[in-house]
Amino acid sequence: MLKLTSADLAKAKIDTLVVPVCEDMDIFMGMPVIPIIANALLNFDFEGKKGEQLVLFNQDQVKAKRVVLMGIGKADGINTESMQAFAGKAVKFCIDKNLTEAAIPIPQAVLLGLEQDDLMRALMEGASLGNHIFDKYKSEKKKKPLIGIRFFTDSKTKKKYSAMAVKTDTICQGTIVAREWVSTPSIDKKPEALAADMIKLAEEAGIKVTTLNAAALKKNKCNAILGVGAGSASKPMMLIFEYGTKKADQTIAFIGKGVTFDAGGINLKSSAGLKGMKMDMSGAAAVAATMVTIANLSPDSKKINKRIIGVVPLVENMPSGTAIRPGDVLTCCNGKTIEIGNTDAEGRLILADAMAYAEKKFSPDVMIDFATLTGACLVALGDKIAGLFSNDDSLSKTIMEASRNSGDRCWTLPLPDDYKELLKSELADISNMSSSGYGGAITASLFLSEFVTTDKWAHIDIAGPAFTNKATAYCPAGGTGFGVRLMCELLDLL
Ligand code: BES
Ligand code: MN
Ligand code: ZN
Repeated sequence: MLKLTSADLAKAKIDTLVVPVCEDMDIFMGMPVIPIIANALLNFDFEGKKGEQLVLFNQDQVKAKRVVLMGIGKADGINTESMQAFAGKAVKFCIDKNLTEAAIPIPQAVLLGLEQDDLMRALMEGASLGNHIFDKYKSEKKKKPLIGIRFFTDSKTKKKYSAMAVKTDTICQGTIVAREWVSTPSIDKKPEALAADMIKLAEEAGIKVTTLNAAALKKNKCNAILGVGAGSASKPMMLIFEYGTKKADQTIAFIGKGVTFDAGGINLKSSAGLKGMKMDMSGAAAVAATMVTIANLSPDSKKINKRIIGVVPLVENMPSGTAIRPGDVLTCCNGKTIEIGNTDAEGRLILADAMAYAEKKFSPDVMIDFATLTGACLVALGDKIAGLFSNDDSLSKTIMEASRNSGDRCWTLPLPDDYKELLKSELADISNMSSSGYGGAITASLFLSEFVTTDKWAHIDIAGPAFTNKATAYCPAGGTGFGVRLMCELLDLL
């Protein structure tokens, strides 16, 4: 839990106070930490360099048992990302010491050259997201997340940003939900089990959820989803979340790829390719967690003038005697036929059905899909930046703005009409496999575009940033929850 307080730092009962220290500038004003920092810089082996840390005990100026000075480097190198990282590290320090609470004094934004809104948000997000441990599969639970995180500031700032603390906390909790779904092993998140988990959270939050099981998918002619799931012993399903009323000004649909394990199907992946494919449902995790978050942020759905729809197809892509084969033809629920050029290009198949279904059912004004769609996107943008494709420049601009504000990094890539040629099929309306080995993220997006009629559509390829093999300052190794913060931010901008 995040809390802002204007209590006097000199008197407050604190176990551990974690203080950011800038190498070449005093960033606090009128706070009792100033002489502590000055003394440390003068008399100890501490300069405030990024990554440096000094632990002091029993300082006269504060009641805190322990004061931890953390270097954040030179003033001109400080940005929201480095402040977010600081907050994450501060929380981690306290977790490692088995504490239940962290206390952090808030520096002056102007002195750091930052907008106050941005600084506050960065500190809150870093602390909240950093307060996450995924040890469900460890027999010994060594560490516990903190119960509370207290930010010390003046009473004016406290008043101004208390609502932000609640909102940020809620969004970060949603991000953590998505992370945990992604990090869960595929054996424990087969479509039915994952669906049950998502439904439970959604219903607790008061969202309407409709479940389409395999029989219902058949009735709705979602043969592409059924085809991808045909090789698995676990049957596919699709969840539809609805929030807000039909009278709303606009309907926004979020679609999330939910392949609970992507073995590649009959076009079986290599050992290296199979590794990590439990994360292939990260789009679905982000969308479902966002739906829950939205409801938690504004429990009264009548007060919000948007109707928000989440559609997540959940399916396992496995090779077996019942699996679809290269050369097969599947008919999507909008009647289009698809020749299977490669069973490992399964994401676009389930998204085609899910998006065509969403359009038919809800006629959204805006539709955005999140998918770990192509290895090619990883090659293009690396593992920290998502590829953004859109048929509408203004939507693309708005998403880029949401990306900058939220920290979920995106970069636009093109949808060139003439590349559509690469998806031609002699047999069916379209092939799911490009005839070229190049531009795979683009041809995958162009395939999707053929199943979309919404004027404002965007596809976000999150194959890179959905998962991290290495822990960062505010994210443990595993799912990152990419997309939740982006979608929440975007809803404020649309
Ligand atoms: N789920 C993968 C994409 C992926 C790769 C996500 C690496 C995360 C990390 C997707 O279903 C896939 O297999 N794509 C193929 C497409 C190809 C067969 C046209 C790919 O990228 O190789
Ligand atoms: Mn695949
Ligand atoms: Zn996949």
